Amino acid sequence: MNDKKFYITTPIYYPSDKLHIGHAYCTVATDAMARYKRLAGYDVMFLTGTDEHGQKIEDKAKEAGVTPKEYVDNIVEGPRGVLDLWKLMNISNDRFIRTTDDYHVAAIQKIFKKMYDNGDIYKGTYKGKYCKPCESFWTESQLVDGKCPDCGREVVDAEEEAYFFKLSKYADRVQHLLEDTDFLEPRSRVNEMVNNFIKPGLEDLCVSRTSFSWGVPVDFDPGHVVYVWIDALFNYMTALGYQNDKYNDLEKFWPADVHFVGKEIVRFHSIIWPAMLMSMGLPLPKKVYGHGWLNFNGEKMSKSRGNVVDPYLLSERYGVDALRFFVLRTFPFGSDGNFTNELLIQTINNDLANDLGNLLSRTTAMAEKYFGGTLPEARQANPELDDSLISLATGLRGRYEEQMEKFQFQNALEEVFKVIQRANKYIDENAPWALAKDMGANGTRLGTVLYNLLESIRICTVLLIPFMPGTADAIFCQLGTCGSCAQCCKTWDSAAQWGVLPATVSVVKGENLFPRIDMAKELAELDRIQEEAKKAALPAVEIEPQLEEKVDFDTFCKSDFRAVKVKDCQNVKKSDKLLKFTLDDGTGTDRQILSGIAKWYKPEELIGKTLVAIVNLPPRKMMGQESQGMLISAVHTEKGEECLHLLMVDDAIPAGAKLC
Ligand code: MSP
Repeated sequence: MNDKKFYITTPIYYPSDKLHIGHAYCTVATDAMARYKRLAGYDVMFLTGTDEHGQKIEDKAKEAGVTPKEYVDNIVEGPRGVLDLWKLMNISNDRFIRTTDDYHVAAIQKIFKKMYDNGDIYKGTYKGKYCKPCESFWTESQLVDGKCPDCGREVVDAEEEAYFFKLSKYADRVQHLLEDTDFLEPRSRVNEMVNNFIKPGLEDLCVSRTSFSWGVPVDFDPGHVVYVWIDALFNYMTALGYQNDKYNDLEKFWPADVHFVGKEIVRFHSIIWPAMLMSMGLPLPKKVYGHGWLNFNGEKMSKSRGNVVDPYLLSERYGVDALRFFVLRTFPFGSDGNFTNELLIQTINNDLANDLGNLLSRTTAMAEKYFGGTLPEARQANPELDDSLISLATGLRGRYEEQMEKFQFQNALEEVFKVIQRANKYIDENAPWALAKDMGANGTRLGTVLYNLLESIRICTVLLIPFMPGTADAIFCQLGTCGSCAQCCKTWDSAAQWGVLPATVSVVKGENLFPRIDMAKELAELDRIQEEAKKAALPAVEIEPQLEEKVDFDTFCKSDFRAVKVKDCQNVKKSDKLLKFTLDDGTGTDRQILSGIAKWYKPEELIGKTLVAIVNLPPRKMMGQESQGMLISAVHTEKGEECLHLLMVDDAIPAGAKLC
């Protein structure tokens, strides 16, 4: 039996909108960690899921005209939804929980009742502030400039009968947990929690709502639903079978080894979550790690700001592995990072195309060119030239492991790339092309140089599996190790050993895994896509605000609106905007009006129509021609485009009829 177990979780996502690359960041990091632990021989449980209750979802569903369940089903299971995204991004979660799953709902009811029975949940009146988008309650003193301290948005007054959890009772124990253990990391987050939340005094937490119904009902008090954070946090245990029969892994995997969470939800995971577990007498998770946020071009990533970075689009353009690699290679996990398209392309070009891609393609190309793909068995080592590469490569696993255990993905990858760069230098130092000039004398040495390169690539590739699983497979194939018989070349153990590839290894040169990207061209294309996305995110229809200023009735009556019939209509020469109308206005004399509507109408489609004109405006000249009045249109903006519709009335209305 494997006694090396590892339970890791991501936050469960709100399916209130489609996910962006910021959401994918944590899941990709968790996936890399889970794959790393599996590689290192652990029995891993990787849990993710969706947090589907709460007022925000209820509101969004109402807006969309569907039930809350239909709404979340579409975002979770629908096309390009959460499940599709994780599949696309090669996320290897072992379990997926939805908080609307029956077993979870029933378990939450039992948990709430247990805390009520043990006296830690009591009934009172909630008075305070509520941030709808964050589903968070705040006291006056916690607000920042009167706004939600998490998201900076408006909060609303709230007062209602509610249940409270005795959070205050656990303040000292939680403070000790944070200050005196390494429960919460990075350490900077501890100070933030203690100074901002615990020291000012932990108040009891409102844990039920009556103002909306989309939540887990409190079964012993109809009308109340359980606060969404209680419902959400316990997912980490219900998904293992806590208070339900659906699963049976609690004993095996609880307590969790680590919860990865974004920095803005550290408060829930490091204060409220342990306090509730203490109340229930349950073991605490071993660690909560609060990672930073990815911003985009220095701004918060959000759909409403139109700067959403769509993981589908990025994966389609650069490949899933390049995207996974980029976010973990570039930004230290514990701090915020600024995602820019330029940085993404630079990383792909430098690390993947230049360093890794080149090393692989140069090595396999030389093996093919000089040895028809299969290396000779005889070896000729040159310790002066070989040893530094070999010792750097065989020591890599230890350095990598040290960083991975601290969740320092960026540093772990840095170590891998040091070996890749060293191997590229080794090619230059050994100049295989010069050795190849005299294969008789140098063939054995040349074979040794290429073998050393292939071994270095192999070791690096094993350690890249957690970050770029698809790419690692493709590289193994090029190294001639894609058959199942060659599994031993890909193991954790083999990553610390030299000489694992068979001496007469056969390489298979394959496609270039990371072609260089033309930065200028690509940035221009991304800008274009971004602009289009911004436009698409604009409100479907925008109308001008109504004028505040009043006109008196007599002034209004001075405007003479008449029905007019179009006798003729033509484009005005040299103008792409103007149409010239010859109109029957009922007076017996034709009226000419020019109107700047050529963008919306072809002249021929208007002939015979009955329109509305104001006929007592002073005549004015346009492009040298007189316009005697103005046609009335309806205007609005749609997806950023100006739209115009001429006002057309029933053809039964005679020309000249007054409109009033
Ligand atoms: N439903 C809660 C979590 C409950 S866990 C018991 C929630 N959901 S969320 O969908 O809003 O966010 C999920 C995770 O995505 C959070 O950890 C959040 O920090 C993370 N991110 C959202 N935007 C992000 C970035 N721009 N960058 C990095 N992570 C970000 O919170």
